[in-house]
Amino acid sequence: MPTTLVTGATGYIGSHVVLALLEAGHEVVAVDDLSNSSPESLRRVSQLTGREAAFHEVSVLDRVGLTKVFASHEIDTVVHLAGLKAVGDSVADPLSYYEVNLGGSMNLVRVMAEYGVFRLVFSSSATVYGEGISPFAETDGLGAVNPYGRTKEIQEYLFGDVAASGSQWRIALLRYFNPVGAHVSGRIGEDPVGKPNNLVPFVMQTAAGRHEQVTIHGDDYATIDGTGVRDYIHVVDLAAGHLAALGALDTHVGCRAWNLGSGVGSSVKEVMAAAERAVGQPIPHQVGPRRPGDVAEAVADVSRANDELAWTTQRTLDDMVTDHWRWQQSNPQGYTD
Ligand code: WQD
Repeated sequence: MPTTLVTGATGYIGSHVVLALLEAGHEVVAVDDLSNSSPESLRRVSQLTGREAAFHEVSVLDRVGLTKVFASHEIDTVVHLAGLKAVGDSVADPLSYYEVNLGGSMNLVRVMAEYGVFRLVFSSSATVYGEGISPFAETDGLGAVNPYGRTKEIQEYLFGDVAASGSQWRIALLRYFNPVGAHVSGRIGEDPVGKPNNLVPFVMQTAAGRHEQVTIHGDDYATIDGTGVRDYIHVVDLAAGHLAALGALDTHVGCRAWNLGSGVGSSVKEVMAAAERAVGQPIPHQVGPRRPGDVAEAVADVSRANDELAWTTQRTLDDMVTDHWRWQQSNPQGYTD
């Protein structure tokens, strides 16, 4: 039975991708080292779908462990989400980011080739565009400005060169903009370890009383209201983009990038207002200094994904914060195991 292997399967994006694959009838093998996520997320995905993914606690750095997984299943496609993803951490510990992100991808491609698996969907990031001019199109130059983004950029070159080495390869590079939200059930969602760096999870935890207030990182940018503008995408729409990309692998030979975003920019103040509508009460916040490394605006040009993947986002910013708040209220401490 054709089977899709998902690395990073118990994580925030991974659990939503596994849910979408199971709902679409795929057989799924889920791989994760559980270093930054809980197996509880997959137990809940099974409850939600009535189907099981075969789970293996394996790191993408463990070539022998990966080989055993490929030997145990008839895998024909891989969705590669496993990796380190915190910009700030990558500045403090770049070597771990290069080791895990690049080393993991090299390991994975080696084992895929050994087992004749040449279809890959890779979790890239809008961070590869660096400080370019928004809206970003896939044909724009790349120029990541932090170690995390550089590992994503280099992985894109790695997969491009692998695809150029043999016509059997079909690789989709999905450049995520800002994923937020949670499955409408409130049963799976974002469960950051420690204090969240990202805006929406921090706002939601503040609304739940876990933090004193939100600090808006600067209000003197050349944007609609001076605060940072980003392209937020509902995680369920993002997961649907992965299934659309899997379908595109049947027609697109080689390696190709697609932006996964809404194409709509929202400022920090607009996100705060939407969150207060969802929560039903004011959320304490103040304006502070700019955060080093932030760009003023990062919004996707989504025309290629819309046209070639026949995929568009369906959910609004209000949907995102409403669904995120439901997850936050139902799981005040995230997954507890
Ligand atoms: C969004 C906006 C902040 C927190 C990062 C990574 C990117 C991707 C998504 C992995 C900005 C402002 C934030 C806060 C704030 N991750 N903000 N107060 O920086 O756009 O992207 O996460 O792929 O690679 O770079 O997301 O949510 O951190 O910030 O004012 O407490 O919210 O300045 O304008 P970002 P973010």
